[in-house]
Amino acid sequence: MQINFAAPQLDRKGTVVVGASERDLLPAASDLDRRLGGALKRAAEASRFKGKPGQVVELLSPSGIQASRVLLVGIGPAGKIDGPAAEKIGAAAVARLLTSGETDVTFMIDSPRDAKIKPGLLAAHIALGAQLRSYSFHKYRTKQREEHEPTLKNVMIVTSEAAAARKAWDRLRAVADGVFLARDLVNEPPNVLSPQEFAERAKMLGKLGVKVEVLGEEAMRKLGMNTLLGVGQGSERESQLVVMQWNGGRKKDQPVAFVGKGVCFDSGGLSLKPGASMMGMKGDMGGAAAVTGTMLALASRKAKVNAVGILGLVENMPDGNAQRPDDVVTSMSGQTVEILNTDAEGRLVLADALWYAQTKFKPKFVIDLATLTGAILIALGLEHAGLFSNDDKLANRIQEAGSEVGEPVWRLPLSDAYDKMLKSKIADMKNISGVTHAGSIVAAQFLQRFIDKTPWAHLDIAGVAWQDGEQKPLSPGWGVGWGVRILDRLVADHYEK
Ligand code: BES
Ligand code: MN
Ligand code: ZN
Repeated sequence: MQINFAAPQLDRKGTVVVGASERDLLPAASDLDRRLGGALKRAAEASRFKGKPGQVVELLSPSGIQASRVLLVGIGPAGKIDGPAAEKIGAAAVARLLTSGETDVTFMIDSPRDAKIKPGLLAAHIALGAQLRSYSFHKYRTKQREEHEPTLKNVMIVTSEAAAARKAWDRLRAVADGVFLARDLVNEPPNVLSPQEFAERAKMLGKLGVKVEVLGEEAMRKLGMNTLLGVGQGSERESQLVVMQWNGGRKKDQPVAFVGKGVCFDSGGLSLKPGASMMGMKGDMGGAAAVTGTMLALASRKAKVNAVGILGLVENMPDGNAQRPDDVVTSMSGQTVEILNTDAEGRLVLADALWYAQTKFKPKFVIDLATLTGAILIALGLEHAGLFSNDDKLANRIQEAGSEVGEPVWRLPLSDAYDKMLKSKIADMKNISGVTHAGSIVAAQFLQRFIDKTPWAHLDIAGVAWQDGEQKPLSPGWGVGWGVRILDRLVADHYEK
């Protein structure tokens, strides 16, 4: 799909998209309605259109104009329009048109006079919504391909500030590319996306100037990464640690660090999951996917920051060499862990990956992303990711970035009382508490034992990394690509110079 920006102009072929607030038609819609002899207003009334965000009325083959169809899209209360609202407009139109047979669409959404967002930026966010909604993952379909094949090719966004729009879009397009990569990785089936295949795909970021190193099991053994290795030891496939570096900042600047849980498939190991709970566990590398997508976005928009992305890639399987409940393993930090449930594997992978990130790179902060606990779905459902942090400033910045880009997070507590739940009879700690309550917090407490003094935040994304039921407006399909936008925004807001 090609996206372009243009100054206001006359007749367009294909579909024309105009807007209406909750009160009335915006000027471009009014003009069009006049030329259509009032047909647009009549259609709006006939279909109970109220101008609510994302609401759409479709007028096919209208007479008197060149366009083959008109979409009237609701923008909500006019003065309140912002980036996320603009994205919903772009997404709502593309949702209607993507596979409809239409090839061309022109957005003529006027910037309301009292809007907080400038016209150029408004146009760029319409573009972002259109782009994010145009995603599809159909590479494994061999039948009914044609009906699923997108037809929409050219997206034109009319704006009084075309140059500013292009500049803003340059940046946002890089972010969309990162989201697409993360979605592709999450959607890819686990027979295809092994730890090694994931590492191969991460290596492709080399083309953008990202330095990518891959450590295999031998190298990790030398470093003493036994909690990570223990998770992968029941799999035929070799575990991998991927280290990506984007050096867009000043030479001496401490990097920011992102660490992703990359369990390419989580069967539970010997503490085997029941069949129904195992479905979808190809997505248990959603944290690693988000970190990879973020690195792509930062490199592709040449962010002025030094950033490190670390992926702990393993497959959690139950073969004859698999880790047992009751095993005791020594982590890279030197602390010992009694494994009581092999399905609490994400924290074991992150323990070593986090330790490696801090000792090797001395980062300004480290943020890990992980589909860590089913309990976070009980607490927060599918709307917010769980946020845990030892640093209020970092936590607040993450929270703010999340609400700016529509990836909201909710902070949950950490404290000694929860930490005590990890006491083991024979080792420094055990990997589960043994009781069912506060599962997400206990998991975060476990991670915190592998944080030195570095400002740290943990995002539990088990509820938001993929979606089975209702689709989010900007995210068709299964993998959401959650995390790329919030991390990119956090960096852009505070860590670039
Ligand atoms: N990958 C799962 C968490 C998960 C569950 C993600 C559902 C997405 C949807 C994780 O490795 C896991 O199995 N966690 C256990 C921990 C328990 C054994 C303490 C869980 O949540 O049940
Ligand atoms: Mn598990
Ligand atoms: Zn898992």
